[in-house]
Amino acid sequence: MKTKIVELNAEDQQLLKKAAEVIKNDGTVVFPTETVYGLGANALSAAACEKIFIAKGRPQDNPLIVHVADFDIQDYVLEVPSLAQKLMEAFWPGPLTIIMKKSSRIPEIVTAGLPNVALRMPQGRTARKLIEYAGVPIAAPSANLSGRPSPTAMTHCIEDLDGRVDMIIGGESCEVGLESTVVDATGDKVVILRPGGVTKEMLEQVVGETLLDAGVQNQLSDGEKPRAPGMKYRHYAPKAPLVIILGEQENVMAEINRRIHECHQNSKRTGVLCTEEHVGFYKDSDCVISLGSLGTPGIIAANLFDCLREFDKMELDHLFSVGFEETGIGLAIMNRLKKAAGHQLIEV
Ligand code: TXA
Ligand code: MG
Repeated sequence: MKTKIVELNAEDQQLLKKAAEVIKNDGTVVFPTETVYGLGANALSAAACEKIFIAKGRPQDNPLIVHVADFDIQDYVLEVPSLAQKLMEAFWPGPLTIIMKKSSRIPEIVTAGLPNVALRMPQGRTARKLIEYAGVPIAAPSANLSGRPSPTAMTHCIEDLDGRVDMIIGGESCEVGLESTVVDATGDKVVILRPGGVTKEMLEQVVGETLLDAGVQNQLSDGEKPRAPGMKYRHYAPKAPLVIILGEQENVMAEINRRIHECHQNSKRTGVLCTEEHVGFYKDSDCVISLGSLGTPGIIAANLFDCLREFDKMELDHLFSVGFEETGIGLAIMNRLKKAAGHQLIEV
């Protein structure tokens, strides 16, 4: 299929209307949001949503997030629980996806047969206008091939999906850079199924005690499934194996350097992911990528996926990353980093 690729600014109404026509005609459109790019299709059409799964190579048991442009969600859910209402008022539009009981208007393929649907109102102007012009909610997973890091730039989307979707529109930057926080608001307490831009601390200010699903920290018992099916898949992994080294700063640096030298003795090439302040400490590594300054975790989050993709452009054999404190946005950063590392963590 020939993919139409256009860069636009959010004021460019004509192009957005064309993209909306593609959605109305059951086609697929990649578009920017404030979190990551989404691969969208009409959420009320099973035939359109099937195309999303094919384009991404996504497993059929992994449900899609339905994106809306306003608060009128009554048609898509059986009820709006009071906790969900509070969260919508506090965090929409924004990087928060809320799970509620689905109505019959949402096709089974969207929720992968689950009784619940995930809803989000994005902040990005392009995304909101596109949904508005299409006149239907838009189902959209991240616009990467299944297993690859989520796309935070138009070039990432082209790398993964050129020839597999009808249209790619780019322009707005993905300020958050990590996918939305996914919460289940169907019970007595809000449960985080995937950490993201709206942090646990922010949620607790609005709804009180908030729980973390065992799947978030990879603490599931044998046979137990995470409640967000997507959390069980290998994800974000660069081609070369990645190991996260945790501990006191000096010990971490010494251990990474020890490993770099060990690799070099075996003629293996290394890459290091660290903060701006410490780039100079890994001079012997074949490649060192800075995520950003220690004092700006929001920027580290926004750069993470791009940095992981950068490693794949070089011929490297072993990758090492420093770790981050799991508070605030750090919880989401470490969640994605651990997945990229296949949970290979070393404490020194
Ligand atoms: O920021 C985002 O959320 C981006 C942008 C495009 O909005 N979208 C995104 O979608 O990250 P995706 O499909 O890559 O991740 C959706 C996650 C998956 O882990 C999926 O299993 C979970 O949300 N999810 C979706 N519907 C669900 C449901 N009904 N119950 C439980 N988990 C659900
Ligand atoms: Mg995804």
